[in-house]
Amino acid sequence: MFSKVCVALLGIPLLRVLAAPREQFGPHIIHEERSVIPNQWDRRPMLDKTRIIPVRINLAQNLEGAEDLLMEVSHPDSPKYAQHYNAEEVADLFAPTKETIDIVLDWLRSEGHDVDHSHYNHRKAAVVVPMPIHTAENLLHATYDAYEHTNGKVHIACMNYSLPEAVRHHVDFVLPTVHFDVHTTPHAPTQEEKRDPTVPSPGKLKDKSPVLPKQGATLSPQALAPAGSLSKCDQQITPDCLRALYGIKYTQKATKKNSFGIVEYTPQSYIPGDLDLFAKQYVPGGVGRRPKLLSVDGGQISSASKSFDLNGESDLDLEYGMALTFPLSVSLYQAGDKIFGASFNTFLDALDNTYCAGDDPTQDPHYPDPNPGGYKGKDCGKYAPTNVISTSYAYNEIDLTPSYEKRQCNEYLKLGLRGVTVVYSSGDYGVAGNGGNCIDASGHLSPSGLRFNPSFPSTCPYITSIGATQIKPGNSVAKPEEAAQTVIFSGGGFSNVFPMPSYQKTAIQYYYKHFKPSYSSSQYNNNQKARGFPDISANGVNYVVAVDGAFSLVYGTSASAPVVGSIFALINDARLAHGKKPIGFVNPTLYAHPSAFNDITSGNNPGCSTQGFTAVKGWDPVTGLGTPSFPKLLKLFLSLK
Ligand SMILES: *[C@@H]1O[C@H](CO)[C@@H](O)[C@H](O)[C@H]1NC(C)=O
Repeated sequence: MFSKVCVALLGIPLLRVLAAPREQFGPHIIHEERSVIPNQWDRRPMLDKTRIIPVRINLAQNLEGAEDLLMEVSHPDSPKYAQHYNAEEVADLFAPTKETIDIVLDWLRSEGHDVDHSHYNHRKAAVVVPMPIHTAENLLHATYDAYEHTNGKVHIACMNYSLPEAVRHHVDFVLPTVHFDVHTTPHAPTQEEKRDPTVPSPGKLKDKSPVLPKQGATLSPQALAPAGSLSKCDQQITPDCLRALYGIKYTQKATKKNSFGIVEYTPQSYIPGDLDLFAKQYVPGGVGRRPKLLSVDGGQISSASKSFDLNGESDLDLEYGMALTFPLSVSLYQAGDKIFGASFNTFLDALDNTYCAGDDPTQDPHYPDPNPGGYKGKDCGKYAPTNVISTSYAYNEIDLTPSYEKRQCNEYLKLGLRGVTVVYSSGDYGVAGNGGNCIDASGHLSPSGLRFNPSFPSTCPYITSIGATQIKPGNSVAKPEEAAQTVIFSGGGFSNVFPMPSYQKTAIQYYYKHFKPSYSSSQYNNNQKARGFPDISANGVNYVVAVDGAFSLVYGTSASAPVVGSIFALINDARLAHGKKPIGFVNPTLYAHPSAFNDITSGNNPGCSTQGFTAVKGWDPVTGLGTPSFPKLLKLFLSLK
């Protein structure tokens, strides 16, 4: 290390600040660690430690006061309500401080690295230094190994790494380190895998996956509920049933100014013929309509191979999102090419240029893609975000590291500052996670684990998490709904990472005061100070969806999210028509006005060998505040500045 300093010093002008002694930065302290190698990964015996790797140090952003700024533009009582910021203003607000940059560069110099400000990109908030693996090990007090995934993919990682005391607080995280590959590779449970989540099923752990909807019975044309009919809504949900349930009666006036985006991850793709089949049945004038394609990192529409797993999610989201907001032109963010797919980060990159350099090379797909046929670009800041963005995919919170999640969660905060409403589905497995898995005593995911497995980004306090309800069998649309109990259970619970946001305090205190669950702290984070989810809910059971040329019933919070997204899009239309700004981050307003929701007080969300939580009066970790009342929400948001 020290000899490298001398070599480096020889070739450069003498007018240069000498490196501070490394002791100045204090002892190394573990910055991130993981106790187990993730499922499906194995350590490989050999690693050439002279290999050069780019060590990427993601600097802490200057987030002091960020949440206050968000509340200032999102809280209904704030005089600055809806006075959103533009992308440039947000980037400048949160760029790392000069102190942060200087300390990190000084530390690297003290360790013998010839770095200067050219290694730092102000707009991208990261310092990147190529170095041999053994040098990175010295720098970070880490031991690197090569790890191989069961799919043959190899990457370099360590189980823990450390940073000096004086440097730690200026760094979000370093890459590559403890982060393992968890692409959002779609995987839907097949028919046979449908299970009662209270009965742990044997067999291998299911892949980390989007919250894909579940397919039920196929419907013959004669069995289809006709458009306009509300007689079978307890067996078949159609756009008319949803309008009746939530009072959606509204003629749009500002479609030219408004926007609504739905995000899909390749290889999921909609089938054009399915949109027409659905529109012919349920959307007068809608045949031939297509979403506006916003391709992110090579995302394309593909109807080459058809299956429910490949088309179910996209068809569902677009058929309902487009029907409920017709004639608004809906945008489709199709993220990822067929080789790599995409992560939420790759999508966020496309909306925020400053986030782009911070991707984790082991967790996020690599763009530009050097592979034959791969996407040669990287879409940084390519699109202005639509006013509302709906996503029906999710990770388990435990799949990702807290640092990675916090950094991504802050991106949703920034979108809120820019006036964007971000909704995510809360999951379909009750208190269990994707595939019905729970956390076992060793920290692994397993169908027999006993600890609840919350969903991310639903646990991020800067998005709106959407749970699922259903019409009780035999009931009409006029009767109160209950939490989803058919095929799927509404994802809900409390974060192990994110604290309770201020806007949730009253609701969660009321919940614990009157309905404290009996589960122990080993089953879930019961400290009463954690972010609870979902925020609200909407019907997610028995959707009539056209998939691969036929109608069938579909289940999932996947359905609930675009319905809520559509409602927010319509409310934005009304505000825009009145010369007001879009609603942006809605949670502070929703929690301040719970009476704008139909409170759901029956049903539960089983999982992890328990009955889960129960839907009760007020907010609960099954259905949140309840289902939307469109007329009340419309009135509420129009009354705001
Ligand atoms: C850090 O990881 C190494 C293995 O790479 C392990 O031997 C060591 O015990 C870990 N240290 C801590 C404090 O977890």
